[in-house]
Amino acid sequence: MNLFSSPEHILQGGYFHSTLRKLQEPNTSIEPHNIMYPVFLLENDNALQPVSSLPNVNRYGINQLMLALKDLVAKGLKSILIFGIVETLEKDAIGSSADTPENPVIKALPRLREAFPDLLLACDVCLCPYTSHGHCGLLSANGAIDHGASTKRIAEVALAYAKAGAHIVAPSDMMDNRIKAIKEALVSHKLENQVSVLSYSCKFASSMYGPFRDTMKSSPMASDRKCYQLPPGSAGLAARAAARDVAEGADCLMVKPGLPYLDIVRRTKDQFPNHPLFIYQVSGEYAMIARGGDSAEVQTTLMEILTCMRRAGADCIITYFAPLILSIISGKH
Ligand code: PBG
Ligand code: ZN
Repeated sequence: MNLFSSPEHILQGGYFHSTLRKLQEPNTSIEPHNIMYPVFLLENDNALQPVSSLPNVNRYGINQLMLALKDLVAKGLKSILIFGIVETLEKDAIGSSADTPENPVIKALPRLREAFPDLLLACDVCLCPYTSHGHCGLLSANGAIDHGASTKRIAEVALAYAKAGAHIVAPSDMMDNRIKAIKEALVSHKLENQVSVLSYSCKFASSMYGPFRDTMKSSPMASDRKCYQLPPGSAGLAARAAARDVAEGADCLMVKPGLPYLDIVRRTKDQFPNHPLFIYQVSGEYAMIARGGDSAEVQTTLMEILTCMRRAGADCIITYFAPLILSIISGKH
């Protein structure tokens, strides 16, 4: 018998029509709730600074951010991830300005809650933007990470953002056991039912964070982050980190970066199908795509990549392309 004439071998009859194609891609739609927009918040309320390494990305003072968000929320934006940047507040060994009342994130949260009552507000929790040494945890005298002091400090910062009005606290530091410390802090302040913990559970020591570190001025002064961020080749550590964070009470998980790590996304989704899974499409990925062609090519490439991220198991994609995506999916450019 001729194999190629056999009806069960004909696939094209299943996807020649656009509606049929939709049925072949059940979980890959890109709707506003599948997108989270990272924003950089400056101390100076009226500042507006373009980021040279990231086309169309700005650093905002709160007044400028509110203006930008008004537009984006009208276009359907559902959630943001806030990064604080300090320029006049001092950086010290313990990252004191991460949770002072003058911290830009702490000051902005009540205003954002009031102005955008339906917008989901996530705060990145880390020490690197605030420490003099630029590491994500605290250091012992010999320069190694002080694990106990780090998790305690990270939990304090997370609690401060939670008290100021964050719906989600998202620790990106990769210190062991910080999820447990944060959850316990939330419980002891009766906030555990009002604040989610989004763990950067599977965050790799990637070379694709360069533009972000320039933007945030958060590079380590000495050494690198390979003793806490995961080795890019290790699926095993990613699985153990996700399992540990789930056991400690993480509400949502994350794989970061996205595109080279879609195998990790699929494994993590299969390992924990009941936890929403985020991808962070990082600054280096953004720069590569944004510079990868004319605007039509950028748009089709971007939508293909997002579709593939959804297919791999991502529920939400954190991306600097959020404004463009909202324009594309709403059909308004
Ligand atoms: C810092 C942090 C980084 C990113 C988010 N939080 C950089 C790093 O870990 O060195 C990367 C985001 C990006 O590249 O877009 N904790
Ligand atoms: Zn950090």
